[in-house]
Amino acid sequence: MSMQLGDLRTDYQHQDGLLEANMAASPIDEFKGWLSLAIANSPGEWFEPTAMTLATVGPGGQPAARVVLLKEIDDANRFVFFTSYASDKAAELAANPQATLAFYWGQLGRQVRIDGTVEKTDRETSAKYFATRPRSSQLGAVASDQSHEVTSRETLEAALAAAEAKYEGQDVPVPDDWGGYQLTPTRLEFWQGRPNRLHDRLVYQREGDGWAIRRLGP
Ligand SMILES: Cc1cc2nc3c(=O)[nH]c(=O)nc-3n(C[C@H](O)[C@H](O)[C@H](O)COP(=O)(O)O)c2cc1C
Repeated sequence: MSMQLGDLRTDYQHQDGLLEANMAASPIDEFKGWLSLAIANSPGEWFEPTAMTLATVGPGGQPAARVVLLKEIDDANRFVFFTSYASDKAAELAANPQATLAFYWGQLGRQVRIDGTVEKTDRETSAKYFATRPRSSQLGAVASDQSHEVTSRETLEAALAAAEAKYEGQDVPVPDDWGGYQLTPTRLEFWQGRPNRLHDRLVYQREGDGWAIRRLGP
């Protein structure tokens, strides 16, 4: 039976729209403001305001999208996330480093889309972040062969138990195939839901050393 969802409709009541004149000159500063507001308006851990959809393109042109967590905006204004270098996304990024991030904060009626190019973070950055992760996450990273077929749940749990035994009483080293990516943005779009579908969309695009702002139809 089909699932009809056409009647589920939100009319965004956010009256405070986006005006070009009120936007920061740097889209990174604008983004940091939006993320801070989203964090301040995320009352439960299930809100995950740093969750972003990462879209990549596979060698055959097939897009792939999945959620990852933003862990840093570094001094060079790059968006950093961590993952397995043996995963499908890593293979896709090796073949085509162009990627897009999409944030959605429903409680604010806001979306941000960020296009750019990724490169791997250096080992030191990956190791520094790995060291801050809870031990259970570190062991999970050791035990999991991300994106590869697993015979059963038991196999996965046995791999975790083996990792726990191997590193008992010692620090868990960063797996060779685990680390970060940093995305350098080239285009950022800020979307604010407004009443009557007259949403605001403001796009920053690189122009020389600065950024040009354009408005797009919603
Ligand atoms: C809220 C949420 C946060 C996630 N964060 C990460 C993350 O930071 N890094 C990661 O590798 N996978 C993360 N995942 C899992 C990915 O969505 C995905 O399943 C995994 O990275 C494998 O993707 P791939 O096979 O396309 O490489 C997260 C999933 C959810 C739902």
